[in-house]
Amino acid sequence: MAKHVYIKTFGCQMNERDSEIIEQLLAGSGYIGVADPGSADLILLNTCSIRAKAEQKVYSLLGQLREEKSRRPGLRIGVAGCVAQQEGEEIFRRMPHVDIVLGTQQIYRLPDILASLEKGDTQRELAVDMEQDFAIPPFQKLLRGDGRRPPSPAGTNCDYKKFVTIMQGCNNYCSYCVVPSTRGREISRPVADILEEARLLVAQGVREITLLGQNVNSYGRTNPVATQPVSFAGLLRQVAAIPGLARLRFTTSNPRDLSEELMQCFADLDNLCPQLHLPVQSGSNRILARMNRKYTVETYLDRVAALRRYRPGIALTTDIIVGFPGETDEDFEATMELLRTVRFHGSFSFKYSDRPNTRSAGFADKVPEEIKSARLQRFQQLQDEISLERNKEYIGKTVEVMVESCSGQEVKGRTATNHVVHFCSDRQPAAGEQLAVRIVHAGKHSLRGEPAARGQERTRPGPHETSGGHR
Ligand code: 5AD
Ligand code: SF4
Repeated sequence: MAKHVYIKTFGCQMNERDSEIIEQLLAGSGYIGVADPGSADLILLNTCSIRAKAEQKVYSLLGQLREEKSRRPGLRIGVAGCVAQQEGEEIFRRMPHVDIVLGTQQIYRLPDILASLEKGDTQRELAVDMEQDFAIPPFQKLLRGDGRRPPSPAGTNCDYKKFVTIMQGCNNYCSYCVVPSTRGREISRPVADILEEARLLVAQGVREITLLGQNVNSYGRTNPVATQPVSFAGLLRQVAAIPGLARLRFTTSNPRDLSEELMQCFADLDNLCPQLHLPVQSGSNRILARMNRKYTVETYLDRVAALRRYRPGIALTTDIIVGFPGETDEDFEATMELLRTVRFHGSFSFKYSDRPNTRSAGFADKVPEEIKSARLQRFQQLQDEISLERNKEYIGKTVEVMVESCSGQEVKGRTATNHVVHFCSDRQPAAGEQLAVRIVHAGKHSLRGEPAARGQERTRPGPHETSGGHR
């Protein structure tokens, strides 16, 4: 008899992709994904610990599940991902109703773990080892199945756009970041595995692929992934060449490692979308040094200028931390100045949060909470104004929109620059279909358009055009 699994995913795209892999692994053990935890035999939380708040959310949800478990003792509860890796045994101590704690390198073992729980070989399982010579297994074989689309039973997965993990972990050791301890050292997947997975996805109808890694620019540098070394730019070119792949993106890049070779790809590859998320974190060189980011504001601005030369109209987004220990008013003003200079299309901004096993957690000069909140609010307000201005630059232009979903006549899609566009259509286009849309209205977070005649879309804006913003 089929069993039901409910997976709740927190955090980044890496986790989203891991949840998909887990779902596919479990499909092989007879599990069907469900959207309602009440009907699940297994509830799995795939967790994030990037900031204290993300971790608190996990514990509070686990607390709520205690009652569910006492009503249904057969229910199994698992915690995977970064909180599982970070907390380990502590999760069992605080939440005794949890059955499985699954670290970031251990997700591939889940079917075996479930089998031994079922056989009664073990009561609960703690699997959080981090192996020195860990290699991401060639899980793309899981997608092969009988040649049909991979199962997406929970109905949450998009069938026309997918993430492909190219590496895991991070060796950068930014002083505030928990990732090196939750995801381990940097490990690249072999080129052949990545290409096989990407080709399979495209053969199954996927139109857009985003290559994922904590620091994609250092792909292939830290462990041998091929007999011939391949740079990230080299990998990108090989993926871009897969026939039928309409759109290619990648995330995340560290500004420090953004090479000319990589930026050249934006000029050469038509299906590489004119969009880049390039986290800067702060506009103050003093703070960047304390963050151990290993670049300066000047280097960052040079890279931004170069990117705009290679691909005019490229939409840039960023991440900002406000209230890093020791951040003065002057440092914060430098961040505001950077925002005014670059005029990011959008940004994700966060109050600094102490994390376990990080250097900055030990810094003495913490910024008070109210100052952090006030700075965050000022930053976000300016970003909103800039995003709106950026979005208005789109009005009157015809852009190519890839359809995401339809509700009646209302269609939602995205431009190559990753802006959300809403428009009305008499017929319901299929998800993944690309349509020409003329932009008629701009809001802070999205654009509104109307269908335009075919052939009018400009996939690559001319040198004098800039595109709108997104968050
Ligand atoms: N506190 C606040 N924000 C953080 N980020 C990472 N670590 C922390 C932290 N300790 C932010 C960074 C990163 C994004 C994913 O989360 O901006 O780019
Ligand atoms: Fe969260 Fe970072 Fe882990 Fe992603 S890698 S889930 S953002 S802590």
